[in-house]
Amino acid sequence: METALVDLPTGAYSITIGGGVRDRIAPFVKKLSGVDRCVIITDHTVSGLHLPALTSALSIPHFVAIVPDGEDSKSLTQAAQVYDRLAAERVERSDLIIALGGGVVGDLAGFVAGTWMRGIRFIQVPTTIEAAVDASVGGKTGVNHPRGKNLIGVFYQPSAVFIDTDLLATLPDRDFRAGLAESIKHGLIRDPALLTWHEQNAARILSRDADALTHLIAANCRIKAEVVVADERESGLRAILNHGHTIGHAIEHALAHELRHGECVGLGMIAENHIAAGRGWPIAGDVQRIIDGLAALGLPTRLPRQIEADDIYALCLQDKKVAGGQIRFQLLEAVGRPVSASDVTADEIGGAVAAIAPVSSA
Ligand SMILES: NC(=O)c1ccc[n+]([C@@H]2O[C@H](COP(=O)([O-])OP(=O)(O)OC[C@H]3O[C@@H](n4cnc5c(N)ncnc54)[C@H](O)[C@@H]3O)[C@@H](O)[C@H]2O)c1
Ligand SMILES: [Zn+2]
Repeated sequence: METALVDLPTGAYSITIGGGVRDRIAPFVKKLSGVDRCVIITDHTVSGLHLPALTSALSIPHFVAIVPDGEDSKSLTQAAQVYDRLAAERVERSDLIIALGGGVVGDLAGFVAGTWMRGIRFIQVPTTIEAAVDASVGGKTGVNHPRGKNLIGVFYQPSAVFIDTDLLATLPDRDFRAGLAESIKHGLIRDPALLTWHEQNAARILSRDADALTHLIAANCRIKAEVVVADERESGLRAILNHGHTIGHAIEHALAHELRHGECVGLGMIAENHIAAGRGWPIAGDVQRIIDGLAALGLPTRLPRQIEADDIYALCLQDKKVAGGQIRFQLLEAVGRPVSASDVTADEIGGAVAAIAPVSSA
């Protein structure tokens, strides 16, 4: 078992990682002052697979709200249905929400917790790699609006995060691997040793070795915690977490969600590092290494089909991070040396898209 701390001035919370840590949830909740009841928010798939493992260890009165799987549940409509349930069950300020699931459940349940009665306590129990290494830590919660993802939300920190690696055993391979792209990203922006560790342990990671997963998730949570503590509300440093995401999000939209988010982030990182390499920065010496590292984890390194560079450029311009018509990229001068750039040209984006072109058109 490993732990990490998110040491925010407004209140620290712990992250507990390892096999069987779900059994630590009930003792933790009992120690929180005045919790009378828990509300478990989860989705259909996760409730079928893992709800009994959580509830059998939870010797506290509770009820369960199940939402449909998938991104569509991150909506005001779904939040309203959960609020209706909380109202029917007369959920009070002393009750506690437990988010059991991937990033969708975590973002929705965190948003509901942050807004119900102006905020009730909640804990995150992530069940995907994406949520374990990224979404469950840092307090960004929210739902989507038809005009864009995550447009409605609040910064609202959980009281604790419990990441039980046993629950990751049922993740389909493709989802498991996709989440690892965020882990590579954390290594690239902040921790060269973590990057090397991935290279040396790819087989153990892919076989879901419990010790390897515990180490990987703990390392990621510590990096995310450091960044969040330095900049909780994304007014500066936290933006570096968007490395690979400007082009990554554009690919995600262009392919109408044919690829997983993490797969798009992996491709986005290759493309964005190609831009940085083209500027003559030292990262040039590591671009092939990044490609090999992603490939070793079973992540795609080329687009499944051609996307026009102009389309990617137009989609980058729609990114939330665009300010004054300038696309804000989080590039790397070198591994561990992020830099933000608002002067990336359409030509540079064209070259970057060519670098990840499908094999047939390469
Ligand atoms: N708040 C943040 O800082 C942050 C960061 C990154 C991503 N996100 C958000 O996270 C969301 C994506 O999260 P995700 O990738 O976890 O997707 P997800 O929550 O949609 O989960 C993917 C699928 O896996 C299933 N699943 C979950 N756990 C499982 C398990 N253990 N075994 C088998 N199936 C399981 C789910 O039911 C779902 O069908 C996006 O909405 C994204 O915006 C938020
Ligand atoms: Zn991401």
